[in-house]
Amino acid sequence: MCGVFGYIGHRSNAALLVFEGLKRLEYRGYDSWGVVVVGRGKIYVKKKTGKIGGATVDELPPGSLAIGHTRWATHGGVTEKNAHPHLDCTHTIAVIHNGIVENYESIQAELVHAGHRFVSETDTEIIAHLLEFYAHNMSFIEAFVKTFQRLEGLNAIVAIHHKERVLVAAKKGSPLVIGFGKKENFIASDPSALLPHTKEVYFLEDGQMAVLRDASVSVMESASQKVVKFSTQILDWDVSQTHKGEFHHFMLKEIYEQPQVVLGIAGSGGEEVKRIVSLIRKTKDLYFVGCGSASYACLAGAYLFSKIAQRRAHAIAGSEFLYHLDFINTKSVVVALSQSGETIDTLESVSYAKRKGAKIVALVNVLGSSLYRVADAKILIGAGPEKAVASTKAFIGKIAHLILLAYALDKRVKEGQELLRKSAEVIREVLAEKNSDRIKKLAHRICGVNHIFILGRGLSYSASLECAMKIKEISYIHAEGLAAGELKHGTLALVEKGTPCIVLLPNDETYAATLAGAMEIKARGGYIIGISPKKEGVFDEYLPIADVGDASMIPMVVTGQLLAYYLALERGLDPDMPRNLAKSVTVR
Ligand code: G6P
Repeated sequence: MCGVFGYIGHRSNAALLVFEGLKRLEYRGYDSWGVVVVGRGKIYVKKKTGKIGGATVDELPPGSLAIGHTRWATHGGVTEKNAHPHLDCTHTIAVIHNGIVENYESIQAELVHAGHRFVSETDTEIIAHLLEFYAHNMSFIEAFVKTFQRLEGLNAIVAIHHKERVLVAAKKGSPLVIGFGKKENFIASDPSALLPHTKEVYFLEDGQMAVLRDASVSVMESASQKVVKFSTQILDWDVSQTHKGEFHHFMLKEIYEQPQVVLGIAGSGGEEVKRIVSLIRKTKDLYFVGCGSASYACLAGAYLFSKIAQRRAHAIAGSEFLYHLDFINTKSVVVALSQSGETIDTLESVSYAKRKGAKIVALVNVLGSSLYRVADAKILIGAGPEKAVASTKAFIGKIAHLILLAYALDKRVKEGQELLRKSAEVIREVLAEKNSDRIKKLAHRICGVNHIFILGRGLSYSASLECAMKIKEISYIHAEGLAAGELKHGTLALVEKGTPCIVLLPNDETYAATLAGAMEIKARGGYIIGISPKKEGVFDEYLPIADVGDASMIPMVVTGQLLAYYLALERGLDPDMPRNLAKSVTVR
């Protein structure tokens, strides 16, 4: 949550450079944005509420030191005053921040008492004033160290001073990654934002701070100031992957990339996968943990492991994991699923489990992310940069890896790979023009409804949850995925004449029972949309998918993604940046 970008170097268009960086980070928060540049020995600010859209920073002067921020509001409403960067009383210090300063009220009271004037309702502003307060008696860097030590909570901050040729940063919790250029350096909250400038990066660890200068970067322990020797790594993504290309939205582009993602995974299964398989084989206490779409992938993982490999696994949402800790011990294995590798509840789950001695396996998309670094063994999802807030290709990538892992556990890895190759083909069929037009027409027909219900059983139950999530988050239609058998325990009461009910009917052991549920809905006037390899008389609408056995949830979810996308368009919404949400949830 919140995008942070900073630049120091030889170029004189730092404000524009940072502004462009913010555009690449906007999916992290789009309530408001702001840029500060040091020009002509002064600090110049531009802040605006809302999305960046067609805005410019043309009025900012030339300068070669700048920071910027895209906000997802926590403390204080969405106003220009609350937008970052925040300044001190003298307008000589500027700060950007991702996180929550838990003790800001007591610090603010202290500073007000000392005569500081606050202009915003944010927790962040106290950082600028605290820096000003300490900088009276010590250097800016020393003041930064003192300030950071006072902050409680999980925070990443970056600060500049109009007279100092440095950019200072520190983190605990929220991510910060440094990008290394030639006579220029960058800092951002997400590595994909650095790609147009550099692929050489260093992910700051918790408890570390960095001082960026034009041609050097030093990293220290923020508590002791001890210099840290660090090695950089090279990102394996390409800048072209971060552009929309011919697509109107990142979400559509990412949906259409899925066959390639799945094919790539079909070709994987090397040494690290073997190591993970042997780790999983040794435990009787296996957990999947993740948040949002990743939590539905966890649930799918539990079904897949049971069905394909006869292995028991518990699927737990990151925010609930803490309450299961009594069962975690040195024999447990926790598989954490995350696109970003920075979701706070997933990271905290992993750190609790680690403290109890469990082994951690990460299924993660971002190389070098916090989850990637902390895991004992890891698989990179290989979906490439995902920019739309609603996860699509990273979700399908997780499912494909879980299928492969389950087959590998059952010593049938080749069969798993073959199934994934077939799935990639089947996704192409779903995306083909004739089929997507059918989905588009359906979206047009049902875009005015208030509720959509989605029914599935077994693996299709987790698919129903994911399809409902996509519809909710980008079309704002209330959608509910449910285990088909649970329908008559309550939800059926909401079905009226014409209520759209999507029924997931794969060619498996769930078919007959789910079909019976569809009949019961139909008898009460529900409008039945069947997603299945077979057409049934009960369907009012039929969205065909090919039969891919244990991987059938893949084409089902892709169908749901397209439906959600077209519903959003029909309702005039921006599918890439849904209201109130952000891509990377780094605060509790
Ligand atoms: C946010 C995103 C979701 C994502 C979830 C978990 O809520 O909007 O699309 O599924 O975070 O993210 P992760 O990066 O851990 O997979």
